[in-house]
Amino acid sequence: MGAEDARVSELRRRKAQAVAGGGQARVSAQHSKGKLTARERIELLLDDDSFMEIDPLVEHRCRDFDMDRNVIPGDGVVCGHGTIGGRTVYCFAQDFTVYGGSLGEMHGLKICKVLDMALKTGSPVIGLNDSGGARIQEGVASLGSYAEIFFRNVRASGVIPQISVIMGPCAGGAVYSPAITDFVIMVDQTSHMFITGPEVIKTVTNEEVSFEDLGGSATHATKSGVTHFTASDDESALDLVRDLVEMLPLNNLQRAPVLPTNDPVDRSCDSLQDLVPTNPKEPYDIVRAIEETVDDGAFLEVQAEFARNIVVGFARLGGHTVGVVANQPLFLAGCLDIDASVKAARFVRFCDSFNIPILTYVDVPGFLPGASQEWGGIIRHGAKLLYAYAEATVPKLTVITRKAYGGAYDVMSSKHIRGDYNVAWPSAQLAVMGAEGAVQIIHRRRIASSGNPSQERERLVDDYVETFANPYRAASLGYLDDVIQPSETRTVMIKALGALLEKEEVRPARKHGNIPL
Ligand code: HXC
Repeated sequence: MGAEDARVSELRRRKAQAVAGGGQARVSAQHSKGKLTARERIELLLDDDSFMEIDPLVEHRCRDFDMDRNVIPGDGVVCGHGTIGGRTVYCFAQDFTVYGGSLGEMHGLKICKVLDMALKTGSPVIGLNDSGGARIQEGVASLGSYAEIFFRNVRASGVIPQISVIMGPCAGGAVYSPAITDFVIMVDQTSHMFITGPEVIKTVTNEEVSFEDLGGSATHATKSGVTHFTASDDESALDLVRDLVEMLPLNNLQRAPVLPTNDPVDRSCDSLQDLVPTNPKEPYDIVRAIEETVDDGAFLEVQAEFARNIVVGFARLGGHTVGVVANQPLFLAGCLDIDASVKAARFVRFCDSFNIPILTYVDVPGFLPGASQEWGGIIRHGAKLLYAYAEATVPKLTVITRKAYGGAYDVMSSKHIRGDYNVAWPSAQLAVMGAEGAVQIIHRRRIASSGNPSQERERLVDDYVETFANPYRAASLGYLDDVIQPSETRTVMIKALGALLEKEEVRPARKHGNIPL
């Protein structure tokens, strides 16, 4: 063999070692858990043959615990860039077959390099997490690299979209990188997220809880709201990332790609004409209104199982990505509570960061009453949504379908906090509160002193309904730009959006606001 051949074969040997990761036995163990390997995941995530690896030859430099005799090139994380739908993204995938995907100094610095490159080039970054956490043998060097990652996640927040997919364990402080990123996707059954695991909890608080109950996908989708999407397996999680990325701009200086549609812009939404029941207490599904309005009925709901009294997600209107926020009368009558306010506030802020117009459907009887809500801080949490809407300068379109009562009327993208185009359906009622409550407060004495209190109450309620339970008082004040038929919603919203795309709204210069966190 000539000298050059020897050098090339040395390169090949090293690259092959990097690709082999932790070896066949560990790869088989990974597969037997229903999990794909890091490289298989990247192949599915990116367009065919688009992946270009960075740092396959990086090695750890730990000399403790015999680690110098256990060196695997790549150090347990596969990093690089490729394309999704032809657009560049950066990604990393932790390799559980190498030291359990644990994050040591160099493993962490590889991820930092990816984050730096993504930020420099204005490209989304996607992290595929599958890791035993801080590499115990590397001690504080591992913690240092974690913090370097957290710092970069924060620096990139609102500049490039950051997506985390949890495809295995994600424990301890390691959870904070995904938590800072914009979207978390968990794979059902095979992923777990928690700060302290079941054993520590048992020791400290004597509570007994399984891995799945503590930090499985169902828990984070329904109870904690940590995850935005749940996927049934690795493949569907990666498909979901592709769908999501295709909805989003590459960075905060760009707009989301416009996707031509065959769905006519002047399609009449006939099924919306009788969507809202005449009985104001009867619920209906607001998702029907969303799906009927948007292109091809395609709605990508975010956090679908958390705070179900508010619906958020992405859709397209005339080809343009919009973020949709909608009160959902099917749950808690569509009231705003702590979880709903926080869920929608973060979503509104994401949209505003990335130039995505916001379409809001309003049917809200108010904030949810109750001591637990008050003690839980509904005042400061509800304020987050108010703040987020008021702060947002992207085009804001609002459709009031039924109730817009009290403070919640103001909060839900009202004209007063700079909704750009606000309309109501004829079924809308804009008032301080519902008729029965209002009559009880303002006419209490009158009802009590009347010869027939229940008849008098009924008459006064009818009176109030006649005066306030309609959109015309608000329209006469210019608080609504128009009252439209439900069937016109799609056409009107697309026209309004078209006229608002070049909107510019300048706010006073400041370091940053002080949102009530
Ligand atoms: C070094 C680790 C490791 C770690 C796993 N491994 N976690 N090596 N540091 N943190 C290694 C194991 O030794 C094993 O190596 C291989 O990875 C696979 O692990 P197994 O235990 O065989 O796999 P499994 O049974 O599937 O269990 C996975 C696990 C478990 C649940 C993740 O390994 C585990 O509990 N690990 C420790 C988790 C932990 O406490 N991490 C620290 C959290 S605190 P061999 O060679 O035997 O195959 C933290 C702080 C972050 O991360 C702070 C950031 C600021």
